[in-house]
Amino acid sequence: MNEKLQSIKNETLAKLQQVRDEAELEALNVSVLGRNGSLTDILRSMGKLQKEERSIVGQAANRIKKELETEFETRKAKLSETLMEKRFALEAIDVTEPGKRRLPTGRLHPMTQTYREIRDVLVGMGFTTYGGPEVEYDDYNFTKLNLPLDHPARDMQDTFYVNDRVVLRTHTSPLEARALLNLEPPFRLVMPGRVFRVDEVDASHSPVFMQMEGFVVDRNVSLADLKGTLLAFVKAVFGEDVKMRFRPSYFPFTEPSAEVDVSCTICGGKGCRVCKGTGWLEILGCGVTNPHELENCGLDPKEWNAFAFGLGVDRITSLKYGISDIRLEYENDARFLSQF
Ligand code: DAH
Repeated sequence: MNEKLQSIKNETLAKLQQVRDEAELEALNVSVLGRNGSLTDILRSMGKLQKEERSIVGQAANRIKKELETEFETRKAKLSETLMEKRFALEAIDVTEPGKRRLPTGRLHPMTQTYREIRDVLVGMGFTTYGGPEVEYDDYNFTKLNLPLDHPARDMQDTFYVNDRVVLRTHTSPLEARALLNLEPPFRLVMPGRVFRVDEVDASHSPVFMQMEGFVVDRNVSLADLKGTLLAFVKAVFGEDVKMRFRPSYFPFTEPSAEVDVSCTICGGKGCRVCKGTGWLEILGCGVTNPHELENCGLDPKEWNAFAFGLGVDRITSLKYGISDIRLEYENDARFLSQF
């Protein structure tokens, strides 16, 4: 009987070393210690033994049973440990490894990039930024800028009226009036913002677009200062080789007034589809501020004078990047925007 017990023990211990997972371990456990297991069989058959033999064999059998149970436990712990180790190895993350997949990142809108670039050029010349509301008094949008109610030039811009006295600003020029009324001259300001006009959407029109106003108020500024400032500005934005042209024009808030053209950024001035064969592209309106505007805003035009210019940020963006349809700049299609 004792020999049989020993051989069950040895066999079990040997097999125990060979089990590879918990299922095998469980099967082995059942075959030895289970209800019909080899050891259980022996324990059960002990009733048939003589009394003394029963106690000796019983003790031995119970000891072996305990030993085996402990061995099973140890083996089980060991198995789950190796299982964990395998999982850890499998799931290990090397935090020093460089990323393989690029996450999509946002970027600045081309108009924002352009705006910041041209703003920075002016900031480099001593300008500071200034802003105001998009819903504006008619008084600031027109009247103070030398456009009284009956002025025919009000028709130059189709206006969204909120009521008799309030409009959606049609340009950034009302910021000139706000600056004159609120700031102590002298000052140099760059004033960006969204502006609104009653326009159908097409390749070159949008009812909402972005302008930027430059405004310099000082004691002795002249048309020459305006021209010098704009030439430096144009070269910084479009490159040293660009040519600039001052063309006489009319704006109620400036006298004299001019429009500025640059040599075509696409063909360099030879004439192409973009410049419609002229070699020139219009980029902004400007002039020496009309004394009426200064007076309307409480400044003595004998002591102070000013110059101003206003440009479309969308237009400069189109010219810089060769974008042929303004709608692309306002529709925010990610496929378009991701190219910049
Ligand atoms: N406000 C004008 C417009 O939207 C642009 C402009 C022209 C602004 C001449 C100026 C200027 O400051 O001097 O059409």
